[in-house]
Amino acid sequence: MKSVLFILILMLTGPLNLDTYHGRNENAMRFKGSEPVVTCGRSGLCRKADFPIGVAVDVSKLIRDTDYRNLIVSEFNSITAEQSMKASVLHPGKDNYNFNETDFLIDFCRQHNMRLHGHTLVWYKGIPKWMEKFKGDKNAWDVLLKDHIQTVVGHCRGRVRSWDVVNEAFNDDGSLRESIWLKNMGPEYIEKAFRYAAEADPSAMLFYNDFDLESRPEKLKAVVNYFRSLKAKGVKIDGIGMQMHISITFPYLTDINLAAMQIEEAGFAVHYSEFDITMVKTGKLWMMNKHLLRLQEERIKEVVAAYKNLKPQSRFGITMWGLSDADSWLYDKNDHDRPLLFDTKNRVKPAYCGFLKGLTE
Ligand code: G3I
Repeated sequence: MKSVLFILILMLTGPLNLDTYHGRNENAMRFKGSEPVVTCGRSGLCRKADFPIGVAVDVSKLIRDTDYRNLIVSEFNSITAEQSMKASVLHPGKDNYNFNETDFLIDFCRQHNMRLHGHTLVWYKGIPKWMEKFKGDKNAWDVLLKDHIQTVVGHCRGRVRSWDVVNEAFNDDGSLRESIWLKNMGPEYIEKAFRYAAEADPSAMLFYNDFDLESRPEKLKAVVNYFRSLKAKGVKIDGIGMQMHISITFPYLTDINLAAMQIEEAGFAVHYSEFDITMVKTGKLWMMNKHLLRLQEERIKEVVAAYKNLKPQSRFGITMWGLSDADSWLYDKNDHDRPLLFDTKNRVKPAYCGFLKGLTE
């Protein structure tokens, strides 16, 4: 019986390679073993899609690294700053704003005919120290929030297409997350943030952005209901960003599609805003690299293909959260995770081919 099982495993996975996994702990994994054959070449993803294809960028790398820059320009037509437009960078002192990196991105996007998506105006993280320590009553906090949003959005008016106005304000159970904003202003901070952003640039598209909307039904329901009722009150809110930090195995495609469809049905555009597919949290650590990378290819293909089923006006776009695996926030965190479309040397991965097939097949 045991040998039958062993042969079956071999047939499914190919010869076992114990080098595949030599992590430092249960979740850690250096990806070893053979690489799968990559079945496609670079084709300019953004030219194959009828919705924007975005990437999160590191501005200092964009300035100094020609390969990085050229690859971004040839494959993507939408940009999100991974750091540069967070309050910690833009607003380092109470009366001190720093738009150097934002202005660089604005010029870069104009030069290359790309869309710039602003990330993010109000978040419980990415806050400068002075703001964390700020003392004042509800009114003083309101003045601070308004000044931050209107100075930033005002500076970018007409040049930044869209904003993540509020990021990650909800807990998994649908309640509001503790933050300096909730603590000092109460739940109204969300509505105020959207109103202030709309006043500062009426033409910008305004988004709420969060993670796990595809895997936490309570959270999704709370978010959709909350913003549907804000919209019914006349507050401008155009879309919802599903961050889409997913794994190869979780959640089911059906759950991802259902979440996107619910957001669409509530009248919002859908942005897959920080897409990456971890290879670590798969529960399949016994598998070889080449099988995991193939599964990642299949996974991305099905997600991208299904996104096309949304109505054209609901498809704000799909944004990858980084260019190469080495750029990913998960790379160090997960001991060399491989969640993106390009490998650490900027070469096309099977995941890239999956994305391309999802767009074209
Ligand atoms: O640049 C400094 C460097 O000078 C310093 O030596 C080093 C020491 O820690 O830190 C560097 O800054 C780090 C920065 O990334 C650049 O690598 C920050 O510590 C680190 O906190 C920051 O993490 C970012 C995180 O947001 C917090 O802003 C991640 O790169 C970024 O991918 C992540 O993105 C978030 C989205 O904004 C919201 N959704 C979740 C997503 C992933 O966490």
